[in-house]
Amino acid sequence: MCGIVGYVGPRPATAIIVEGLRRLEYRGYDSAGLAVIENECICVRRDVGKLSALDELLAEQPVHGHIGIGHTRWATHGRPSQRNAHPHTDCSGEIVVIHNGIVENFLALRQELQALGHVLASDTDTEVIVHLVEEYMKDGSSLEAAARQTLGRIKGAHGVVLLSSREPDKLIVARIGNAGGVVIGVGQGEMFVASDMPAILEHTRDMIFLEDGQMAVITADGARCSTLAGEPLQLEEVTVPWDPVSAAKGEHKHFMQKEILEQARSITDTIRGRVNFETGDVHLKDLNLPLEMARRFNKMVIVACGTSAYSGLVGKFLIEALARLPVEVDYGSEFRYRDPIIDERTLVLAITQSGETVDTLAALEEARAKGARLISIVNVIGSQAARVADGVIYMQAGPEIGVASTKAFTASVVDQYLLGLYLGKARGTLSPARLRELVDDLAELPNLVGQVLANGVEYQRLADLFFKRQNFLYLGRGINYPIALEGALKLKEISYIHAEGYPAGEMKHGPIALIDETMPTVAIAVRDHVYDKMVSQIEQVKSRGGTVLVVATEGDEAIAAKADHVLYIPSASPLLTPVLAVLPLQLFAYHVAVRRGCDVDQPRNLAKSVTVE
Ligand code: AGP
Repeated sequence: MCGIVGYVGPRPATAIIVEGLRRLEYRGYDSAGLAVIENECICVRRDVGKLSALDELLAEQPVHGHIGIGHTRWATHGRPSQRNAHPHTDCSGEIVVIHNGIVENFLALRQELQALGHVLASDTDTEVIVHLVEEYMKDGSSLEAAARQTLGRIKGAHGVVLLSSREPDKLIVARIGNAGGVVIGVGQGEMFVASDMPAILEHTRDMIFLEDGQMAVITADGARCSTLAGEPLQLEEVTVPWDPVSAAKGEHKHFMQKEILEQARSITDTIRGRVNFETGDVHLKDLNLPLEMARRFNKMVIVACGTSAYSGLVGKFLIEALARLPVEVDYGSEFRYRDPIIDERTLVLAITQSGETVDTLAALEEARAKGARLISIVNVIGSQAARVADGVIYMQAGPEIGVASTKAFTASVVDQYLLGLYLGKARGTLSPARLRELVDDLAELPNLVGQVLANGVEYQRLADLFFKRQNFLYLGRGINYPIALEGALKLKEISYIHAEGYPAGEMKHGPIALIDETMPTVAIAVRDHVYDKMVSQIEQVKSRGGTVLVVATEGDEAIAAKADHVLYIPSASPLLTPVLAVLPLQLFAYHVAVRRGCDVDQPRNLAKSVTVE
């Protein structure tokens, strides 16, 4: 979950590393640090807290050099503190490491190293790596050889970068398992390393992605890749389409605000080039699921976590409605431990913005072992979930930096709509005329999204009214029930207000006991086949003294008489209303969090890619 950056080349390394870390701070912000080789010595600067603390430290104690590594930490072992911040050095101070992952056998290794006389200066699991390298270099081994031996001894999943003043021209990078990506950026006479592309996109779009069990020795002239065992590899260099501008905040106060507001564009990009609006045909380039194969499945299982899991719950409605294929949705973390009933007639779909969420990846592995066909909906190009699946639908949302997922949610819902159309055609559940209607509905969506997002002022007013509340209840029904879950998640993760999402019909079975004048309810009551049921839930809340904010369909004057505040969305096809209904909830959560003075883009305790179990 930590952020990693490395540089080797002719330019000053410190600035490149710090700027890279700034773009990765969303991954972890318990501490930040870097190590640069200056005058043949390793100089380490690190501090607890956000990157601004490191900035201040570097202003007082600058370091100059042309090779270095940097890290933002999301603490697992050892509380956030200066001494637990990465990089970690060996006893001689000549070798340094940054790391993402958990060394599962670190206690045994720590004892072994201490018995050999090593002095470990932190509480982290990471530090054992650099002392092991030091130990293995004692017999004159190279940094590369010692790294191989070390990597063979540590258990768990890891991204590791090593640097030594004894061999000051190179970085050693390695990936073991699914602790997050390791990407190598290829420049002109300079090379970069990062856990995520946005860190280095400003410098290059030519990337090499390391897979599980691969490592590379990187000098300014290039990367020599191999397996951990030393077998040489020719890894493909990929030119990625993301541009650095889309990874910058621009005129917006927060990335989350920018990402909410760019959803008309991201949805346009999601649809663009994939739909033939004359025939209704859907073309999903990398899906790798021929029509004959698509007919053979008797069930689909969606695995995902957090917001992506809620997207999957919407997807269940979409795919069952469009393709009449039964769909189960499960959290990645549960799926892997429940011995799921799946086989080669099961289509397993992983949804993951980052493509690196360890629970989702483990679910894919479980599904693979049971013979299922695997597909993924992924935002980050080249990420692990894209690579391990048989086929992939890229979200086309562009880089999502805010920890709270917004545009990736709507993009992935639209992707599932497209998948539903594709499967529906394959399975003969959609007539040509119906297909054309469905793609016409989709064509209108970006414009409708733009209409909802144009009304930002209203949300500031509501935030002023509600930002001091401590509890919220979110209710939805049918295809908008997952939107209630997602709305509650958005509010709780960025504003730290307790919020529960519920299927509206369940309210009377328990949550209704919570209703009083202090607990507002947010209800999604759009004009669809469960509208009347939603209205009666709203009346039940009102009759118990509750305050109701309702997301309703434009033109529904009647609901204004029943609710306290109405957030209108344009009328749309019922299958696409979730994409519109979630927008007011994203905006509401955003403005409440801003009003409470919360750190919107980097909420406490969270990280953008959850690469630990
Ligand atoms: C969303 O706002 C959250 N930060 C979180 O729930 C996230 O959706 C989850 O961790 C899954 O991430 P993924 O899509 O990258 O797999």
